[in-house]
Amino acid sequence: MNILVTGGMGFIGSHTVVELLENNDEVIIIDNLINSKIDVLDKIEKITGKKPAFYQINLCDKDLVEKVFSNHQIDVVIHFAGLKAVGESVEKPLLYYQNNLISTLNLLEVMKNHNCKKLVFSSSATVYGSPKFLPIKEDFPLSTTNPYGSTKLFIEHMLKDLYTSDPEWSIAILRYFNPIGAHPSYLIGENPNGIPNNLMPYIVKVAIKQLDHLNIFGNDYQTKDGTGVRDYIHVVDLAKGHLKAVQKVMTTNKIDCYNLGTGNGYSVLEMVETFEQVNNIEVPYQIVARRSGDIAQCYADPTYAKQELGFECEKTLEDMVKDSYQYIINNK
Ligand code: UD1
Repeated sequence: MNILVTGGMGFIGSHTVVELLENNDEVIIIDNLINSKIDVLDKIEKITGKKPAFYQINLCDKDLVEKVFSNHQIDVVIHFAGLKAVGESVEKPLLYYQNNLISTLNLLEVMKNHNCKKLVFSSSATVYGSPKFLPIKEDFPLSTTNPYGSTKLFIEHMLKDLYTSDPEWSIAILRYFNPIGAHPSYLIGENPNGIPNNLMPYIVKVAIKQLDHLNIFGNDYQTKDGTGVRDYIHVVDLAKGHLKAVQKVMTTNKIDCYNLGTGNGYSVLEMVETFEQVNNIEVPYQIVARRSGDIAQCYADPTYAKQELGFECEKTLEDMVKDSYQYIINNK
């Protein structure tokens, strides 16, 4: 199959491209490299022995997207590309709406023009807002607390309206929980520029002494030890979920949402302790005030994804913390 992957050079995108190439799919990547580096392409080739077609373009430029579809017969699109920093989205909401929504509208219009109506969309558990019950099921009410989350939710609405207008579309919306870890080759992984927003990249930078200590945002939540609980999922398991979703959209004509998580919730303190034990390294931390917008607990009910997609995670929490650390050691 010819699969277009937007944002294919990013953290989840690059791991998905590797799985697709290893599955003998043809991959075409669109990425503007705003949050990724060109050397990822060589690393993908090193891992798989194959080099995907690559276009360094911005999806907001519709004519350029059109050219990619003229050059390739695309069977299905996996759409990752988008800005994703929560704090930045609060400061620059128009940038987030402009970028994430216009790029998606362009992509959908060009897909429609070329009669390519199979799509896997990268959404987030952020669309559940502050869930009233746990674990989170796909039919829970949706809401958001920041512009980044709102762009994901608006796109979900757009896709549902599009499907209603034309049931020839087949769309899988994947709601990711908290992806961490790295490919076991340690050639690709997550290494954000500057001070990381998310927990695991921050822990890793403390471990390699690029940052002094971890700030734990609150220990007075209604959780097992007072710190925030999340559903961490190994990025390789998550990437494999996309192959299952591609199979689904190729064999059905519907729109549906799937939680991609393990179903296990771990607290910040449990994450720090596991990281320290597995990697045999200390991670100094301080308890500080809660981060605004954070919720106490967020973890998936993964039953529907298992039933419908046959999706199951194989990696353990130990694999996740080991691979996150080893990737940085190998790419300091
Ligand atoms: C965050 C985003 C979410 C996005 C996801 C992408 C917020 C409020 N939410 O989710 O919209 O989809 O990333 O991966 O930013 N923590 C610390 N110290 C830190 C960093 C985090 O204690 O330096 C804690 C947080 O309070 C939370 C847990 O670690 O309890 C996980 O945080 P993080 O990795 O930022 O993910 P989310 O907040 O779940």
